[in-house]
Amino acid sequence: METVVSGIRSTGNLHLGNYFGAIKNFLKMQHEYRCFFFIADYHSLTTHPHPKDLHDTVKQVLVEYLACGIDPEAATIYIQSDLPETAELYLLMNMNAYVGELERCTSFKEKIRQHSDNINAGLLTYPVLMAADILIHRANKVPVGKDQEQHLEMTRQFGNRFNRIYEVEYFPEPVAFNFGTELVKIPGLDGNGKMGKSEGEGNAVFLADTPEIIRKKVMKAVTDAGPTEPNQKKPEAVENLFTLMKVVSSPETVAFFDEQYNSMKVRYGDLKKQLAEDMVTFTTPFRERITDLSKNNDYINKVVKQGAEKAHESSRKTVKEVREIIGFKAF
Ligand code: TRP
Repeated sequence: METVVSGIRSTGNLHLGNYFGAIKNFLKMQHEYRCFFFIADYHSLTTHPHPKDLHDTVKQVLVEYLACGIDPEAATIYIQSDLPETAELYLLMNMNAYVGELERCTSFKEKIRQHSDNINAGLLTYPVLMAADILIHRANKVPVGKDQEQHLEMTRQFGNRFNRIYEVEYFPEPVAFNFGTELVKIPGLDGNGKMGKSEGEGNAVFLADTPEIIRKKVMKAVTDAGPTEPNQKKPEAVENLFTLMKVVSSPETVAFFDEQYNSMKVRYGDLKKQLAEDMVTFTTPFRERITDLSKNNDYINKVVKQGAEKAHESSRKTVKEVREIIGFKAF
């Protein structure tokens, strides 16, 4: 069975865009592949989080993924820092990663622009750590978006280089994995582009948002002055609301408002009210599970422990074999 590895950035809460993008794929993959999903807390140290914030966000991310239906019995879900073998493999891979290629990495150059006051070595070697995450389980597939393609290319580079240097065929070449056309792009509420938390307050609807917050955000969503001709093409902002409706509302509701739009009778206030209620209905079970799980530290500890144990079986084996290949052997 092929192995899938995915690292989850340990920042912030999940929104509808995350759910209909990556997470729905994870839910499917977990039953079809040997899956490792981990929370990338080592990676998050590049920004020097306060220890309490680090701890809280890791817990929140874990709880939200579980609330979405990631099944710790089917997939292996673990916390990156629970697997020190990753750190060892990272050290070993660093010896064959060249400073020049790391400096040329787009995400590193971006970081230099964003915060030139904190260009630490961890940022420079971020792609090596990511490679270690993937190679530690000798993964074949990595479900990542466009923004991670270069990192994945570097992972292949490091894995292949290791194979060449030591004349082995040890690491497989991991490829990007996406469900192509099945991927629904979820737009935000601000009228342009996709849902994302960095796009500004109110653009994203989070799974943990209360009904009041959801209603407020949806009522503030951008629209236009309304159609001026029958069957007119919808402007992007309005089209976006329909796209959102398609994922949370019934087909009848979508058809109703579509008809209203085409006959120029649409009232955006009514449309938004309906959309908000359907979003509340959709997110409520998630929010309730998030609240319940957050209180259940015993369960969370059990999941984390079990995940670390399962992941260890794989990581110990890899590091042992890599050490032997490199020449660390008993006399
Ligand atoms: N760099 C990824 C991101 O920013 C997170 C990540 C870390 C990752 N290690 C990984 C993703 C390994 C896939 C595989 O989203």
